[in-house]
Amino acid sequence: MIILGIETSHDDTSIAILENNKIVKMITFSQIKIHQKYGGTIPEIASREHVNNVALVLEEIKKDYDLNLIDYIAYTNEPGLIGALYIGFLFASAISIALNKPLIPVNHIKGHLFSVAINQKITYPAMALIVSGGHSQLMYAKSYNDIVIVGKTQDDALGEVYDKVARKLNLGFPGGPIIDKLAQDLKNKNDLLFSIPKTENELDFSFSGIKTQVINYINSLEQKNYQIDQGKIAYSFQQTILKYLKTKLNIAKQNFEIKTLILAGGVSANKEIRELILNMHTNSLIPELKYATDNGAMIAKAAQIYLETKHEK
Ligand code: KG4
Ligand code: ZN
Repeated sequence: MIILGIETSHDDTSIAILENNKIVKMITFSQIKIHQKYGGTIPEIASREHVNNVALVLEEIKKDYDLNLIDYIAYTNEPGLIGALYIGFLFASAISIALNKPLIPVNHIKGHLFSVAINQKITYPAMALIVSGGHSQLMYAKSYNDIVIVGKTQDDALGEVYDKVARKLNLGFPGGPIIDKLAQDLKNKNDLLFSIPKTENELDFSFSGIKTQVINYINSLEQKNYQIDQGKIAYSFQQTILKYLKTKLNIAKQNFEIKTLILAGGVSANKEIRELILNMHTNSLIPELKYATDNGAMIAKAAQIYLETKHEK
């Protein structure tokens, strides 16, 4: 079975081919350099870039792959930037009509979740922490077709908070990888000890509560004309996030039978968060780094699992 996976929900135009359970090709055009100028993604520009890029990415794929061999076309249908999603849909539809092969819509968050199933096996029931630039949730999966959200952010997504703290520290966009590196490189690991927010549902998150503390702290230093130690603040922010995620996952472990603990979404590229998840369960799955941020491979993989399990209850 050969599946073409198309991802265009945000600022990556990515197409991958999955053949007999293996990703055999993936081409991604990132728009990060364009959006960096603005300090965040501009939806209208993202749509225009996808229009330019989809055909170019497909040309790259066609260089060493015969599209006529494809059995299914999978694409991200939700959630995401509406214009960006629509271009993916139109593009996928055009290929589907041209090749006379069926379309499979894939939810982007499910795509992230099943990114860990590329070259690995999920044993159910699984608890998945999905943390990206737009979403942060804990999902309890008994199968592909039985997934319940048991906790979600009440405000900002985790990646969004990384990006906002980085912007306040004048570190650039996207902030996640920069804060990750600063925190790792810091010599004197001195934690400023920000506190952890409370939520009514113990498994929900309030990442904005942590962001506000960090931003207030930076503001207070600025008012006094004190020096801003970017490394120390980045490190302390990340330590607080790690402590917070650990607390939430421990509650989840107490309340649910978990045979696999999953981390996915763009923030799953974070070195220390990856280590945390690997240390929290004997069977933890994290995506390979190239499948952590948005990509077409995870969409093709989720479609494959859908096809294999759609008749299961
Ligand atoms: O999943 P993704 O590629 O796009 C969305 O669906 O949102 O996630 C992008 C987010 C950005 O907020 C980015 O800062 C964050 O993932 N991110 C990271 C790291 N790499 C990317 N956050 C923390 N540490 C990283 N190494
Ligand atoms: Zn994503």
